[in-house]
Amino acid sequence: MSRELLVEMAKHNISHVKANTVAGADEVFKVPASHYYDPEHWQREMDQVFRRMPLLLALTCEMPNPGDYRACEAGGVPILICRDQAGAVQAFLNMCAHRGAQIMPEGNGNTHRFTCPYHAWTYNHQGALTGIFSHKEFGDIDKSCYGLRKLPVLERAGLIWVIPNPDSDLSIETFLSGYDDMLAHFNFADWHLFSRRAVAGPNWKIAYDGYLDLYHLPILHKNSFGPNFPHKSMYYAWGPHQRVASPDPSLVAYEEMDEQDWNTTHLLSGVWTIFPHVSIASFDGGGRSVMLSQLFPGKTPAESVTVQNYLMENEPDEEQAKEAHAQFEFLEMVVRDEDYATGLKQQTALQTGFKDHVLFGRNEEGGQRFHGWVDKLLQTPDNQLNELFSNSQEPSF
Ligand code: FES
Ligand SMILES: [Fe+2]
Repeated sequence: MSRELLVEMAKHNISHVKANTVAGADEVFKVPASHYYDPEHWQREMDQVFRRMPLLLALTCEMPNPGDYRACEAGGVPILICRDQAGAVQAFLNMCAHRGAQIMPEGNGNTHRFTCPYHAWTYNHQGALTGIFSHKEFGDIDKSCYGLRKLPVLERAGLIWVIPNPDSDLSIETFLSGYDDMLAHFNFADWHLFSRRAVAGPNWKIAYDGYLDLYHLPILHKNSFGPNFPHKSMYYAWGPHQRVASPDPSLVAYEEMDEQDWNTTHLLSGVWTIFPHVSIASFDGGGRSVMLSQLFPGKTPAESVTVQNYLMENEPDEEQAKEAHAQFEFLEMVVRDEDYATGLKQQTALQTGFKDHVLFGRNEEGGQRFHGWVDKLLQTPDNQLNELFSNSQEPSF
């Protein structure tokens, strides 16, 4: 079914190539400029988006074995993700049941048990409290009441989503709206995490707007990769998640071929974004690769941090690794010196308060849909979240 959808999107693309048209939104859309800097608005986004939505926080390929773990922070919440002995992924608040210390330092590793650095209480991969240092002197407690608090987690398509709220009853599957079936065509579970780094940027939405926007490519990136890049884009949506593709004349040749022979890698071209904070763009440095960018708001409305993950389909040999490093450095430079340098100045300008609203054209449907979903979430109470996402299960384009 999902491959049929890939073919259907390609046919949609071909029809626009032949007609020399692009699909777009109905109207030009306005976003209040204050949505990029107002501290109260930003705090609501932190509470209602980043503390309530499933966030893509880890990759299957960085924790394939039992005992592998990753500790990180998202939405201001310290999180510990691990693979248990049965191979299932678990997620917990990275907070000790004794007096709340963070148990594992940020980063990845493999361990038989989790031991708190403060007084050495220990937990297993299920989060159960298994050991209390100097138990006799500490006194009696019911250990079964003092495990690590579990967070909702789902592993799909080689990617791991966690909701940074132990009380959430939002179904991550419903939230994904079938998009995970599309992403599964990349087969990321078998890929290789080549390298990872962090880049500082402006307000998270100023930064994210750029990932949904091909309109700027030949302009802002004219001195790097952009001069020959298409600036026309079409958006394919599964709930709030969107694939961005430009009209691609090279698809037209497929019309002469059986559909099952259409090249899947080609059908996956473009940028695949995952609401509210991830973008996956394909490259070819050192072999088939993608840059998977995870955006996180910083400590104030004017800051964000982007974790760039360079994933490769195959583990590179020495020569390919050199190429991959060069490609990754180039991409980091483009994002830091072109996208985010521009975004930081845009931030300063907007913060003057002298602008009422910014515009997203009919050709910027992705930004329109993204801001529309953020606004929708700010108005949706917790008990209506599942309903909100289950009403948007049909892919639209
Ligand atoms: S806070 Fe963890 S053992 Fe004391
Ligand atoms: Fe850009």
